[in-house]
Amino acid sequence: MNIVSARFIASVYKAEQAPKPALPEIGFFGRSNVGKSTMINAIVNQKLARSSSTPGKTQCLNYYCVNDKFYLVDAPGYGYAKTSKRLQDSWQKNLEFWLTENKNLKLAVLLVDLKIPVQDSDIQMSEFLNYEKIPVLIVGNKNDKLKRSELTGQINVFKEQFSSFDFLSASGETKDGVSKLLQYMTSALKA
Ligand code: GTP
Ligand code: MG
Repeated sequence: MNIVSARFIASVYKAEQAPKPALPEIGFFGRSNVGKSTMINAIVNQKLARSSSTPGKTQCLNYYCVNDKFYLVDAPGYGYAKTSKRLQDSWQKNLEFWLTENKNLKLAVLLVDLKIPVQDSDIQMSEFLNYEKIPVLIVGNKNDKLKRSELTGQINVFKEQFSSFDFLSASGETKDGVSKLLQYMTSALKA
């Protein structure tokens, strides 16, 4: 798939506010700071999504329309301790509701940080998505941060932990794996 056009559509705070027309959606999930926004920018090859070194800023779903054909959805990151507990809980509920109700979500790209051990919150998120019967691709992100010698071992650990899902090693920063991700997205949209 070639990216012909990509533009910001809306910030959505509730499932009912999803933009019209309804189009297939691909959601990007993961802990705060894992690189969701950076990855979206790498895919569309422009600075659309706001990335930041301050985690936990985005507390809504940002919709981007690509090729007038589908939406990329940048979801709020979870698991950031400095966001107030109340906000975290209310967001958790909102996000769960959105995922449960959303019939247009064709693929959940779940980004995990290869530089740190597998996190319980990521396992929980993958299980929740699986339970909701949403196809999941695990993207082991920030692979540029590991030495070649460490990377293979770490990829194997992640593949084992997320053995029920497809897995891709990538970096939004260097764009390694991004064309493979784009291929995967293309097939998911056709499915
Ligand atoms: P929230 O919106 O808070 O949930 O974070 P996010 O998941 O959107 O992360 P974001 O894309 O804003 O990136 C967070 C930080 O990680 C930024 O400082 C990025 O420059 C950095 N970063 C993102 N992707 C990569 C990557 O692949 N490699 C490296 N080395 N740094 C990255
Ligand atoms: Mg972000």
